[in-house]
Amino acid sequence: MSEKKEFDRDSISNTLIIAIGLSLVCSIIVSSAAIVLKPVQEKNEEAFRQRIILDVAGLMEPGGDIAELFQAIEPRMVNLETGDYTDAADAERNVPIPDELDLAGIGQRPINAPVYLVMNGDVVDQIILPVYGKGLWSTMLGYLSVAPDGNTIKGLRFYAHAETPGLGDQIDKEPWRALWVGKQVYGSGDEPQIRVIRGPVAAGAQNPQHLIDGMAGATLTGNGVSGLVRYWTGPHGFGPYLKNFREAG
Ligand SMILES: Cc1cc2nc3c(=O)[nH]c(=O)nc-3n(C[C@H](O)[C@H](O)[C@H](O)COP(=O)(O)O)c2cc1C
Repeated sequence: MSEKKEFDRDSISNTLIIAIGLSLVCSIIVSSAAIVLKPVQEKNEEAFRQRIILDVAGLMEPGGDIAELFQAIEPRMVNLETGDYTDAADAERNVPIPDELDLAGIGQRPINAPVYLVMNGDVVDQIILPVYGKGLWSTMLGYLSVAPDGNTIKGLRFYAHAETPGLGDQIDKEPWRALWVGKQVYGSGDEPQIRVIRGPVAAGAQNPQHLIDGMAGATLTGNGVSGLVRYWTGPHGFGPYLKNFREAG
């Protein structure tokens, strides 16, 4: 009578077979989960982006249906160099930013960038621009809302950064956010004049319409916000696009 062969737990080959088998099964489970969950993740990212855009536009209602509220917003692509709308869908291709112009510290920017128009019937009510750049510790990503005069700021909202809580993270808190509303990006020329200064804007300061109070203990983050807003509204950013609005207004 043949004896049943026992599984030898200590043999090297069996240990290897079990280890390899187990890693195969695990990797199949992980990659299938990644594939299955990708569309859900993309949908969530899109909803998050739409919520932030609605928020900077002042259109976010508590408990509101994001997709429905977002119907009031018209996404368009802009060729940054010409400032004209384009049908090119890709925001992937990049051009390097010359060092002397790189106030945002980002090294490169896309050829075409999205803008989000808040419409009031057929009339543009707000122009929402994606803006990003280096702070003290992190790349800060946000949206800037500009009035249809192409000059007056209606809101600035950051949604991702890693500046220090209580110091640099004031960028996304009231009352600092509120200081931007109503400020003017440009004076008589095409170079942005807006900037965050160190400390509060003094009574009687010259051209206070371009100046934002610095955040206490976070001058460096404030400099980063200055730089990125000036870059993205400047001649290498959305400057040519915003100029079309200033000239039409
Ligand atoms: C732990 C730590 C975290 C800091 N985080 C920030 C920050 O997020 N943003 C910032 O501008 N400065 C930050 N600072 C302070 C800067 O080093 C610098 O002192 C400050 O920006 C100067 O601003 P003030 O001139 O308003 O004091 C931090 C300092 C320490 C020690």
